[in-house]
Amino acid sequence: MGRWLVLGGTRFLSQAVAAAAVARGHEVICAARGESGMPPEGARLVKVDRDTEDALAPLRGEQFDAVVDVAFISYRWVREALAELGEKAGHWTFVSTMSVYADLSRRGGGVDDPVREPRYTDPTDPEDFGAYGQIKVASEQAVMEAVGDRALVVRPGLVCGPDDEADRFGYWPARFARGGRAVVPDAPDQPCQIIDVRDLAEWIVLAGEQGITGTFDTCGPPTTLGTVLDEIATAVGAADLERVPVSPEELGAAGIMPWQGPRSLPLWLPDILWGVVDRDTAPALAAGLRCRPIAETALAALETERALGTDRERQAGLTAAEEAELLDGR
Ligand SMILES: NC(=O)c1ccc[n+]([C@@H]2O[C@H](COP(=O)([O-])OP(=O)(O)OC[C@H]3O[C@@H](n4cnc5c(N)ncnc54)[C@H](OP(=O)(O)O)[C@@H]3O)[C@@H](O)[C@H]2O)c1
Repeated sequence: MGRWLVLGGTRFLSQAVAAAAVARGHEVICAARGESGMPPEGARLVKVDRDTEDALAPLRGEQFDAVVDVAFISYRWVREALAELGEKAGHWTFVSTMSVYADLSRRGGGVDDPVREPRYTDPTDPEDFGAYGQIKVASEQAVMEAVGDRALVVRPGLVCGPDDEADRFGYWPARFARGGRAVVPDAPDQPCQIIDVRDLAEWIVLAGEQGITGTFDTCGPPTTLGTVLDEIATAVGAADLERVPVSPEELGAAGIMPWQGPRSLPLWLPDILWGVVDRDTAPALAAGLRCRPIAETALAALETERALGTDRERQAGLTAAEEAELLDGR
């Protein structure tokens, strides 16, 4: 069994990677501050704060069979980790994003699609996410330059499931489980692709074990928004749930935002962004990525929603009052 380092490991995807590696019998070290949470049982936390100088000194000289870095929006973090640990690492996974692509309207694209201009400077404001895709491009480049012969770059789309605190996918299981009349975008044929955090984590561990290298778009098989909402409704919808389709034009006129943010309908996207939810994931599937049915993701997301409190102020979705406004007269 191998020695794994997860840079992160205390929340969501990186925590799921650590858990999957522990389940496979590996020795797992998570390097994080321990502020978001704790590593899963069986993994060890080494406290590091990557915002500080010489942050990875506690890991100096260590050798790992596999390293997984989920650095969200920092080129500096990625370079420092590579400089400190890259030479001795057996395999290196960098978690990137779909947001690297220059043209997010193109459907059915793959990893050879043109990417955005790289940006090598980190934002000074931690709330500034505008350069997300460009910093990921620069980070991917740094990984390929330093450890390209051993590197796996994964570009996920929407990651969903247990412990997802982003409020996007979880809006739908929570809303459908509440029942009654629920506004849905009248866009059943819109492309849609999601990935369960557990499936992505298990594949990252498999890839590390098997030495899989290269760049992969990592989402579930392409489907439609209508199918995803049907599957969520079947899995967790209340008996009195009635879905009320509202056209994208009417939603737009009412100031409802697609995808995320307050006053939004998650998973709904304008066609200029359909490339985000219609990627060619056949190469990842051929390399062993297995995706569970959406119903299982919906059940786990609902559990997380209930643990977080379904009456909390959400980062994405409609409030009951906003929904009632839209339903008025329908
Ligand atoms: N969610 C999605 O739908 C989606 C889609 C595409 C791509 N992605 C990518 O997937 C990855 C998500 O990673 P994730 O789920 O593990 O969540 P995350 O919110 O990116 O957190 C990752 C880890 O970073 C650690 N961290 C934060 N600040 C730190 C610091 N100053 N020093 C050391 N560690 C620090 C956190 O631990 P502590 O706070 O305990 O230090 C946590 O364990 C990201 O790379 C993201 O870009 C996500």
